[in-house]
Amino acid sequence: MNDRANPQVAVPAPSQVLEDSAFLMPFSMNRQFKKAPRMIARAEGMYYYTPEGQRLIDGTSGLWCVNAGHCRPKIVAAVQKQVATLDFSPTFQLGHPLVFEFAERLRALAPKGLGRVFFTNSGSESVDTALKLAIAYHRARGEGQRIRLIGRERGYHGVNFGGTAVGGIVGNRKLFGALVTGVDHIRHTHDMARNAFSRGQPEHGAELADDLERLVGLHDASTIAAVIVEPVACSTGVLVPPKGYLERLRAICDKHGILLIFDEVITAWGRLGQPFGSQYFGVTPDLITAAKGITNATVPMGAVFMKDSVYEAFMTGPERSVEMPHGYTYSGHPLACAAGIATLDTYAEEGLLTRVGELAHYWQEKAHALKGLPNVVDIRNIGLIAAIELASRPGEPLGSRALDAHIRAFGKGAYIRVAGEVIALAPPLIIEKAQIDELFQIVRDVLSELA
Ligand SMILES: Cc1ncc(COP(=O)(O)O)c(C=O)c1O
Repeated sequence: MNDRANPQVAVPAPSQVLEDSAFLMPFSMNRQFKKAPRMIARAEGMYYYTPEGQRLIDGTSGLWCVNAGHCRPKIVAAVQKQVATLDFSPTFQLGHPLVFEFAERLRALAPKGLGRVFFTNSGSESVDTALKLAIAYHRARGEGQRIRLIGRERGYHGVNFGGTAVGGIVGNRKLFGALVTGVDHIRHTHDMARNAFSRGQPEHGAELADDLERLVGLHDASTIAAVIVEPVACSTGVLVPPKGYLERLRAICDKHGILLIFDEVITAWGRLGQPFGSQYFGVTPDLITAAKGITNATVPMGAVFMKDSVYEAFMTGPERSVEMPHGYTYSGHPLACAAGIATLDTYAEEGLLTRVGELAHYWQEKAHALKGLPNVVDIRNIGLIAAIELASRPGEPLGSRALDAHIRAFGKGAYIRVAGEVIALAPPLIIEKAQIDELFQIVRDVLSELA
């Protein structure tokens, strides 16, 4: 096969060029990976399959997104049908029925009062959309000086400028300059000295929410638009909120007129046993960012849910004016809507959005049974999420031991995601108890032999 732009250049088969591949892989160790690649050829249900046919149990739902398991027939059929019916139609000054239908279906699941939805294509876009909506909301109400955005140390809010700025993982921030101005961060909630090996929400640390009062004291509440946190901070290595922490954050935001944004890109869609994490914790934010499991990851999509009062604040000018000058070419893409509706059908038919309630205890006990294995310094869990934190190797970069665990697990038949020295497990919600056993047995074998 010849390259069209340059007929002199022959394009070899991908397997031949991997070491010098054109593909700059995201969030990857490109050079290490390309020397010893781990490739996936297909997937079904709980499992991935390599090109050689090896089966791997999916321990982290891809990237925390394939909540209903892989290649689910109803979703596949809906996307196939849609692509041949209406491939694309704008949602700027035009509509197609599916996007309105999907929005109503989502409204029925969302926490009470957060029934309005804006569509994006990813979690990162949802975050930047929510931050913009927060600033615009205050301006629409005559408080245009509220422009500050508060994130939290160790938070992950995607990779766009706003999300990187409010994010709190240094490795994701340091290359990218000053980011967005007017941003500050409250302290993270991780406290191994007091909370190691907690089952579910840790006992200690509700008072860390008061750190928001420190920033109010520094900047004055009248300059702060919003605070964004993940109810459970997953990408940083699974930090479960201490008991009472989210409630306290909500109360401080209410006291000062600050919008509270929950980034539920991972905690929505049944991961904690309720459609949204905020329903599980019983704390209602003003805006919710979502993505990933909204379409079971089949077609990229994200969404921002907002309180009716936020939506209504924008519906005030002349009727012949654009109320929200924000949107993506693919906001409400027909394929994503078709995938999303079929995903919600699959979730409903199989009870997946609440199924974790039945599995959580079994899952928790299996995770904590790894205590005592070599190098395990903490185990944390909530819903169908577990983190096993390992001691780092003296003199080696952080994450080297966990990376070896990931590679060894692949060889033994499990895909597990690692972040720093943390093994993060969050399998599809269709997992059966025997498959939970299978996954933890592989992790146990890996940890037992890992130096
Ligand atoms: C909490 C949170 N916010 C935002 C994102 C970014 O989502 P995306 O990768 O779809 O842009 C992620 C991704 O893992 C996430 O976990």
